[in-house]
Order: sequence, then C-alpha cells, then structure tokens
Amino acid sequence: MNALQSLDREKLPKHVAIIMDGNGRWAKERGEDRVYGHHEGVISVREIVNGCAEAGIQYLTLYAFSTENWNRPQEEVNALMELLVNTIRKEADELNKNNVKMHVIGDFETLPAICQKELNEAIELTAANTGLNLILALSYSSRWEITEATKKIAEDVAAGKLKTEDINDTLFHQYLNTAKFPDPELMIRTSGEHRISNFLLYQLAYAELYFTNVHWPEFRKQNLYEALLNYQARERRFGKTSEQIQTKTAQHA
Ligand code: IPE
Ligand code: IPE
Ligand code: MG
Repeated sequence: MNALQSLDREKLPKHVAIIMDGNGRWAKERGEDRVYGHHEGVISVREIVNGCAEAGIQYLTLYAFSTENWNRPQEEVNALMELLVNTIRKEADELNKNNVKMHVIGDFETLPAICQKELNEAIELTAANTGLNLILALSYSSRWEITEATKKIAEDVAAGKLKTEDINDTLFHQYLNTAKFPDPELMIRTSGEHRISNFLLYQLAYAELYFTNVHWPEFRKQNLYEALLNYQARERRFGKTSEQIQTKTAQHA
C-alpha cells in the first residue's frame, strides 16, 4: 500500500504550508548554478499541487519569495522573477482545468509590473474554481504582514470604525493577508534547515512542523504523503492534557 492509500481522509489537514528550500544547494551539488535549481523546483511545485489535490487538501501555501530574498544577487532575483512570469503563463490554463483557485499573499506592489499582470490574470481566470486553493507567498514576510495589519487597525481605530476593546485574535486575523484562509495545521520545510524564516509567524501558532532533508527539486508526492502520515500520527493538544484529548476522541468515536 502506498502512502496515499494509508492516509486517513478524516484526519487530513485543511491547510498545508511549505517553505520550498534547497534549490541552490541541490543545483550546486550537481555542479550547476543556483538558477538551474529554481527551474527544477517548478517541477516539484506542479507535482505537489497535484498531490495535494489528489489527497483532498483544501489550501496549499507555497513560500516562493521572501521579502529578504530581494537582497540576493540581482541576477538571481531577475531570474526568479522571470521564472515566475513564465511559469504562471505556462501553467495557468492547466491550473484552471484542474479547478485550482489561485491567490497571492505578500507585498504585491513590490513585484515587477509584468509579474503583477500575469498573476492578476491567473487569479481572475481561476476565481470561480472550487478545488484546491493555491496561495503563493511572494515578496512576503510575516513581520511585514503583521506590521501592515497593525497599521490598518490603528487607522480604523483613529477613524472611529473600530474600538480598541474590539481588537482580539479573530479580528486580528481579518487584517492579515490570510484573512480568507484557515490557519495551516501542517508546515513543511525541505532541505534540512530548522527555522521559520519569517513565514506565517502568527498563523503557525499551533501548526505541526515537519522538516525533511530532501531538497525542494527532489520533493515528490510520496514525500508529501509521508509528511501527511507523520502529521496524522501526532497528538495535537492545544495546551490541554493528553487525557483530555483522548477522552474527547473516544466520545466522538
Ligand atoms: C528556495 O531555495 C527558493 C527561494 C528561496 C527562492 P534556495 O534558493 O533558498 O536554495 P538554498 O537554500 O540556497 O539551497
Ligand atoms: C525561505 O528560504 C524563503 C523561501 C523559501 C521563499 P530562504 O532560503 O530564503 O531562508 P533562509 O535565508 O535560509 O532562512
Ligand atoms: Mg534557502
């Protein structure tokens, strides 16, 4: 039985978030330049989007370019932006056929105009789809997002649209880029680094974290399903005791 068949469909995360890391190292190990790794990484994106759809995941967030990634050598940044434009152009119809709905989170205005145009077209094309929600984090950082949310809340309080005492966790969520999406239950990072790198700091509060040494260009459906199986074997306690969780599970069985 393969890992997909072993999955408990009742216990799937609704939302999986992935830090797609290791493209550069993977390419270097093969004597290639970093950009080659980014190109190969697109194959993994296609594979994992399909894998999530097949497993029945509803939301997939992919960290594709961070605010800090703007500080990379200009040639690499240019290559990544070009790859983004070409990939969206090539894949939009296929995504649409597969009923995928596209979204973007991040500081959209900082992306080159051509990227914004391609992304807007793909978002519009797939707007009515009802399958997997594919959320691309582009020019995204969580501290930026939280700071922006805080500014908007302060403006709304100053304008009298909001009272300070109304500010709570639910309201704060509504001011984040991810307002329309549930929090990820599972966050995967490839390529062996055990850090969050400014990704969804607020939303990952109770996410299960899964780290694998596999570099992103080699990450395949099987690896995704192994991560999902690992997730399903965990006990999520949300601050409670194990006994409380088990009693609740037994009551619902
Ligand atoms: C992830 O791979 C892709 C982006 C950050 C855009 P990296 O480019 O970070 O690859 P490594 O981590 O240097 O190997
Ligand atoms: C995080 O990876 C950002 C993306 C995958 C887009 P990085 O490779 O930029 O993270 P650090 O620098 O190793 O923390
Ligand atoms: Mg990296």
